[in-house]
Amino acid sequence: MQEQIIHSLRKSSDYISGEEISRDLNISRAGIWKYIEDFRRQGYEIEAISRRGYRIISSPDKLLPWEIKFKLGTKEIGQEIVYKETISSTMDEAVRLGIAGAAAGTVVCAETQTKGRGRLGREWISPPGKGIYASLILRPQVPLSEVAQLTLVSAVAVCEALRNTAEIDALIKWPNDILINGKKAAGILTELNAEMDRVRFVVVGFGINVNTLAAQLPPEGTSLKIEAKKDLSRVLVLQDVLRSFEKWMNIFEGEGFSPVRSRWKELSATLGKKVKFVEPRGEVVGTAFDLAPDGSLLLKKDNGEIVKKNSGDALHLAVK
Ligand code: BTN
Repeated sequence: MQEQIIHSLRKSSDYISGEEISRDLNISRAGIWKYIEDFRRQGYEIEAISRRGYRIISSPDKLLPWEIKFKLGTKEIGQEIVYKETISSTMDEAVRLGIAGAAAGTVVCAETQTKGRGRLGREWISPPGKGIYASLILRPQVPLSEVAQLTLVSAVAVCEALRNTAEIDALIKWPNDILINGKKAAGILTELNAEMDRVRFVVVGFGINVNTLAAQLPPEGTSLKIEAKKDLSRVLVLQDVLRSFEKWMNIFEGEGFSPVRSRWKELSATLGKKVKFVEPRGEVVGTAFDLAPDGSLLLKKDNGEIVKKNSGDALHLAVK
């Protein structure tokens, strides 16, 4: 109902009478008033003038489901949105919902996370109201062997969206960190729920530093605000990311990995760089020269040996 009332209030830039909303939505005037009070508590500024009606003056920049769905225009991604002010990790809630049968495209998002996690057991710092912390449930119709490519599909989707909304030169560090001017602005974590040979669902979690301040970030981190030198609406950024996910998932499921691979290569900050992989059995250093058709990174070591990497972290080495 919140969604319908907000959409009703947005129908025109002028006042809308309680009577009209009441008639459109089949809800009592007292019922509408209760919702208006709730909206105000959430940070909406709503004018109420007798005999004229209601008018929204301003909306809070919160990731409220009805705000994200407003003019979203996707068919599947973001049609169902679960919102929490505080959560341990949106990943846990998305996995729980995935097991319970939530529809593909369901998004779990939060204003803050108390146990946000990153790849390779790292922590994802999630200051309230500053970043986007979201997990998306996907049920891709692809064999288990191709599911790792989803990580790269997600990187392309997020990177393209950030380039468009924030008008910044975002690039991808293999496999799926999003860098701006060499610093990390967003990270993606993919978790799989599968049987022996069948994908049940995949949860793609993304953390985007939108209006995060330098003091709230690790030294190697940055935010869209720092790079674009302006505040951005988290709702608009998230909407663009969801649209981009829908576009790239359709391409991936319809045409396979090849078009994704081409776009990933265009957006890559890693190809052409000397990189280092730190592994339990030692370091591997080489020049990243291509993305293999299965999504692995191809390195050429100084001795000419070709190495294929499909997990871990590619540390970009400075050229001396
Ligand atoms: C990484 O770069 O290491 C991946 C970071 C992923 C962070 C996001 S924030 C939303 C979702 N919930 C989590 O706990 N992690 C992901």
